[in-house]
Order: sequence, then C-alpha cells, then structure tokens
Amino acid sequence: MTPTVAPSRTTLPPEGAGLAKGGPSLRPSGLFISFEGIDGAGKSTHISGLAEVFKAAGRAVTLTREPGGTPLAEKLRSMVLNDAMDPLTESLLIFAARRDHLSSVILPALARGDVVLCDRFTDATFAYQGAGRGFDLATLRTLEQWVQSAGADKWLQPDLTVWFDLNPAEAARRLSGARVPDKFEAQPVEFFSRVAQGYADRQQAEPSRFARIDAAQSRESVWQDVLSVLKTKNWL
Ligand code: TMP
Repeated sequence: MTPTVAPSRTTLPPEGAGLAKGGPSLRPSGLFISFEGIDGAGKSTHISGLAEVFKAAGRAVTLTREPGGTPLAEKLRSMVLNDAMDPLTESLLIFAARRDHLSSVILPALARGDVVLCDRFTDATFAYQGAGRGFDLATLRTLEQWVQSAGADKWLQPDLTVWFDLNPAEAARRLSGARVPDKFEAQPVEFFSRVAQGYADRQQAEPSRFARIDAAQSRESVWQDVLSVLKTKNWL
C-alpha cells in the first residue's frame, strides 16, 4: 500500500469555533482519544472502563462513537452498516456523519475541557473503506482534510489513538455466534486482514499518535496495558 504522507496535524478547532486565539491557548484543554481495531478485537469494555476511571479522577467525559454520536450521524450509521452501496457513497456518508459529530459533539466537548473517548474515528475509514474495500486513499485524504479542517494545512486528529491489534482469525473466532452480523462483520477473514494492514499503515505513518495494544492477551492484561499508556502520558 502507498504510505500516507504525514500531514501537518493539530487539535485546533476550525476557525470560528469560539476558542481563544494566540499561542498555546489555541489548543482546547480537552483530550481527544480514539479507539480502533478490527471487529472482534474487544475494545468496547475497555472504553467504558476508561470513562469510569477518568470520571473517578474528576474529569468530565464525553463517551461517543463513529459512525454515530448524534441523531443524524446515527441515522447515517444505520444506512452504512446495513445497506449495500458503492465505496464512494459509503465514504461520503461516513464523512458526513463525522462532520455532524465533530461540529455538534466533539469540538464543543473539547472546548469545555472534556475527555472525549471516541469508539473509532477516521483511521477506521482508511482501514475499512481504504484498505478493506480498496477505495482510493487520496480521495479519503481529501475528505479527511475537508471534514477535519482546522485552518490552513491543519486538521483535527485525536491526541491519542489506542489500537487494539488482534489476529483476524482470532477476531473471527471471537465474533462467531455473538450476534447477527452487520455488513462489515459478515465480511470474510481476508477482508479483516486487509483492514488490519490498513491500521498498521496508519500507525506507521503517525507512530507518535498511536498506542498499539496486543489484544490477544487476557482481558485483564489488555486493560492494564491501556491504563499504562494513559499513565505514561500523565493523563491518569
Ligand atoms: P462498531 O461495531 O465498532 O461500532 O463499528 C461499526 C462498523 O463500522 C465496524 O464494522 C467498522 C465500520 N466502520 C467503517 O467501515 N468505517 C468507518 O469510518 C467507521 C468509523 C466504522
């Protein structure tokens, strides 16, 4: 796969989002943490666990997900997860949902100083639509820059992305019989091998944003690894 060009990144809100301008105060005081991994990697319980830990530490937490997180984005999620469509349509709907989510939930939460815990974000689009479905990465990069724009040559990305890395065959074993699969969960293991490679490529392009967790470990060991990433950053 073509490596992504490391862009200029920031956690700044778009112009006009109402935050103070100038120097370090440009950066919202909140923390934006996303969680990624192939279906079956087991991220959900750890995300809710972290929400409780941050709350116990006195932080306000916004717990949210993609696609989704707003009434409009949840409607788009239902279409994306259940209806057949070509990959461009799928990508446009996902980025439309993301724009609504960013402007009405994520950016206001970051401006308030919340810890935003987001179950998936744009890395999932590069992994699923890009690597998994084979959709054009340059088009995805253009959409990413439009939707996450934060002024010239800058766009919003998570401060940290916790990537639950799991072998696709093991993920499929964990998922089997769990529930009626949605459009993505029903994909063959080869699809998830490509998605996993898509995540690896994103990590390689931006290693400092990513924390890779070995999700094949016991749930307790995974949890301890997640906590230790946040403690190392002095966020807990
Ligand atoms: P979830 O089951 O972890 O909530 O994720 C929903 C599904 O949507 C999952 O199979 C991954 C997929 N997805 C994409 O294909 N592209 C995206 O950009 C996002 C955020 C999710």
